[in-house]
Amino acid sequence: MHRLVVSMKLVIFGPPSAGKGTQAQKLSKQYGIPQVATGDLLRKAVADKTPLGLKIKSYLDQGKLGPDEVIVQLIKERVAKPDCKNGFLLDGFPRTMGQAKELERMTDIDLVLSIVVDFESLVERAVGRRTCPKCSAVYHIKFNPPMNEGICEKCGSKLIQRDDDKEETVRNRLKVYQEQTAPLVEYYRKKGKLVDIDGSGGIDAVFAQMVKAISHLKK
Ligand code: AP5
Repeated sequence: MHRLVVSMKLVIFGPPSAGKGTQAQKLSKQYGIPQVATGDLLRKAVADKTPLGLKIKSYLDQGKLGPDEVIVQLIKERVAKPDCKNGFLLDGFPRTMGQAKELERMTDIDLVLSIVVDFESLVERAVGRRTCPKCSAVYHIKFNPPMNEGICEKCGSKLIQRDDDKEETVRNRLKVYQEQTAPLVEYYRKKGKLVDIDGSGGIDAVFAQMVKAISHLKK
């Protein structure tokens, strides 16, 4: 059952494969606000071979961050859509100080849920991930397998392994995260907007912490 929460703007923050997308999908269902995932938007643009997709493909393949101005424009267009009028969950944005500053100019964020997971678990989560190319549902061969191997439970499509989930690219994405994205944790902490979420437990345990943090926000 969807519960509509008026004007709740959340950021799901964390390193690659920490579980941002998994949690964002569950929160979106729980609170009736859309997940806005830059990675999903970019992969769709690549698959559709749009001008943006052609420009961004090599960044994704190498695990590098796309240019701030391109990403900010993408977010601006997405959050201007009617389904975002009661709020949204940003997943994968912001990822640089420049993006954080742009976001601040755009709107006020209520809460940043920052998922903390150790490095080796991140690699294991990424290389075992399988995703649905059609509806973006996320699975894991060990931690969250679909009922029928290789098939999306939500839409029946054949699951794929993302190109950037090869171990070498994953390690590069983690390095990029450390250098360019991790400093945002302290930035948001100083603003009093950040809550640490222990991401080492199972999917439901992580979700419960997020719901608790949001319930404090709504008091
Ligand atoms: P993006 O798609 O955002 O990738 P990411 O940040 O690396 O995050 P992931 O999608 O890898 O992981 P996630 O945290 O969502 O974890 P998930 O829930 O899937 O970005 C891809 C690329 O796009 C970037 O490299 C960059 O090139 C570009 N890009 C995107 N945003 C950008 C921006 N703002 N600026 C510039 N460039 C940008 O979970 C991972 C796995 O773990 C799954 O298999 C899942 O089933 C499993 N799992 C989840 N939770 C748990 C748990 N609690 N226990 C065990 N397993 C779990």
